[in-house]
Amino acid sequence: MADPSSSDRFLVTAALPYANGPIHIGHLAGAYLPADLYVRYQRLTGRDVAFVCGSDEMGVAILMRALREDRTPEDIIDTYHPQIRDNFERFGMSFDHYGRTSSDTHTETTQDFFRVLDGKDAFELKTEEQLYDPEAEMFLADRFVTGTCPVCGYEEAYGDQCEQCGSTLSPTELEDPRSTLTDATPELRETTHWYLPLEEMQPPLEDWIDTHPEWKNNVLGQIQSWFNDGLKSRAITRDVPWGVPVPEEVAARHGLEAEGKVIYVWFDAPIGYISATKEWAAQQGTPNAWTDYWQDEDTTLVHFIGKDNIIFHCLMFPSMLMEHGDYVLPDNVPANEFLTLEGEKLSTSRGWAVWLHEYLDDFADERHTADLLRYALAATLPETADADFRWEEFQRRVNGELANVFGNFVHRTLTFAHRYFDGEVPPLQAPSAADRAMLDALQDAPAAVAAAYDDFRTRDAVSETMGLARRGNQYFNETEPWHTHDTDPQACANTIHISLQVCASLAVLLEPVVPSAAAALRTRLGLTDVRTSTPGPDPPSAAGWHDAGTPLLAAGASLPADPEADPLFQKIDDDTIEAQIEKLRDRAARHESSSPDTTDMPDDLDALSAPISFDDFMALDLRAGTITAAEPVPDADTLLCLQVDIGLEERQILAGVAEQMAPDDLVGLNIVVVANMEPKEMFGLESQGMVLMAEEPDGTFVPVTTDAENGSVVR
Ligand code: MF3
Ligand code: ZN
Repeated sequence: MADPSSSDRFLVTAALPYANGPIHIGHLAGAYLPADLYVRYQRLTGRDVAFVCGSDEMGVAILMRALREDRTPEDIIDTYHPQIRDNFERFGMSFDHYGRTSSDTHTETTQDFFRVLDGKDAFELKTEEQLYDPEAEMFLADRFVTGTCPVCGYEEAYGDQCEQCGSTLSPTELEDPRSTLTDATPELRETTHWYLPLEEMQPPLEDWIDTHPEWKNNVLGQIQSWFNDGLKSRAITRDVPWGVPVPEEVAARHGLEAEGKVIYVWFDAPIGYISATKEWAAQQGTPNAWTDYWQDEDTTLVHFIGKDNIIFHCLMFPSMLMEHGDYVLPDNVPANEFLTLEGEKLSTSRGWAVWLHEYLDDFADERHTADLLRYALAATLPETADADFRWEEFQRRVNGELANVFGNFVHRTLTFAHRYFDGEVPPLQAPSAADRAMLDALQDAPAAVAAAYDDFRTRDAVSETMGLARRGNQYFNETEPWHTHDTDPQACANTIHISLQVCASLAVLLEPVVPSAAAALRTRLGLTDVRTSTPGPDPPSAAGWHDAGTPLLAAGASLPADPEADPLFQKIDDDTIEAQIEKLRDRAARHESSSPDTTDMPDDLDALSAPISFDDFMALDLRAGTITAAEPVPDADTLLCLQVDIGLEERQILAGVAEQMAPDDLVGLNIVVVANMEPKEMFGLESQGMVLMAEEPDGTFVPVTTDAENGSVVR
């Protein structure tokens, strides 16, 4: 297998996030930030990197959220995909392409892959009894069923995984299973599915994993324990109404109907990396170029993921790739452990998380907003064990390191250069021992930091880089240019010359972590002919990573005029930090007193929707009405069945408000009804419209009321 430093073509992936909720710092620390640092570093060395990601939009996680909120899966993914994509961009993620698995390219790529494997008889077909919910009239795959974990006894384990002990499960292994749709006890019914016979793949997988002793211990440890337990074959199709359809001709080949059968999300999602690479290549105008990245042995393929994805990326996807035969296998899968927050497990359902979009909004007035979180998180990545994010530590990193070390060093160097040397790089002559020692340290820095990145020791890479800024500050203090300016002007010139070179190198070496501040620094130094870490080619003459050990600025070069420029970073005050901690505690307290199902929403206001035409609006028939009766719906915890008088007639309407409102709160209210909704059946009852409710930022529903006579048109 190619050693990362010996290959020049890299394909780097970051786990596709589910498009069913916003991104939080746990996601960032697990996969996205280390991937972005690695990629930016590789680009600065001049290597050819394609960095792909996208939204994971198929599968049961999306369908469940849709059913719970009484929305369509399309509606869910169309809400979250653009949100996730845009917030990644604001955070400085430098993907070459961010796709989505609802794309046509992805459907085709997945179906082709499935067809090829089926054609090679790589699958087994099995007809077995599976859990079926007689009330919802649906097979209960994955998260549609909960029950007691057979391994650890946790009572809320899901049909695909126990979140307590991490075991991968199949629904029939759960003790006391219950449907998450209706709470019904499932029955067993026969159905036929395609299986990936992982037990047969174990020997070749073991041989292949043996060629990678360099992988991270936490990853190899998990793989070994899977091998010890013995791999089991896994169903890779499902009977659910959302997913990439099983191709008809493949089903026909086995005398089966494809109708109602979809490909399992963990089969299609990693193929999303391939689809995204295809889309990227097509957008570059070189539609076949994707094969260089996926099918040429010289490519170094690296998957960045969180530890809950290890089995899928280290065993399942590789066995699919092996069976297919045309693809390279991953060179490394540097999975991270989990991030905790203020000493406690992150939990979206408990509201114990820091959401990326909230951070970006709350800190929007700071300079280089994204860089602050990037740096603080990069310094705390859960690389070898779980790590804890604390707001006070964030403040300490920003104030004590970014501002006091890096920012201060840059500021004093530039101030001296402008004040004493007319904004020009002074010449270096007869360097002292201290000068030489600083130049030596500078020379060693790029290789030392590179070695850490190449080994996936991102935290070390970041602290090594900051070490150079720290060393620069010490050198500045030791050589005392404020004295030598009067006593030995050449010594002062040497200090400023060398300090400017260190600043220039930092503008390159710190770019992966703090790309926005690094760009600002390059501008202040007038450093133009250097590579950047973003997608797209750089001029061949541009200086890169390994040039950053030698002086990048010529003596006599003039620095752009800006003597009184602001420091690179502002300090974060205590109030800001306390407000964040309080926000977290408030939200957790609110969530404790409400139900788990409504709680993993962010607590700020939703973004405005795209504009609609006047005609679109007029297509709505809104009427004033009175709720005359309200009753619980058997087996549906979230629904109330309402009778509503809308003047012209009486309507039965199912409203998803039972977790917040008692029937008595509703009877007698004069409300607004969407009167021309298509009727819809839920839990055996027909719902003939919708009652308008405002949803407050914390998820509380407030009915929209009116004093108008029943039947009045609202517009
Ligand atoms: N959506 C999955 C998760 O968040 C990750 C999918 S990674 C991929 O856990 F490889 F399947 F794309
Ligand atoms: Zn368990």
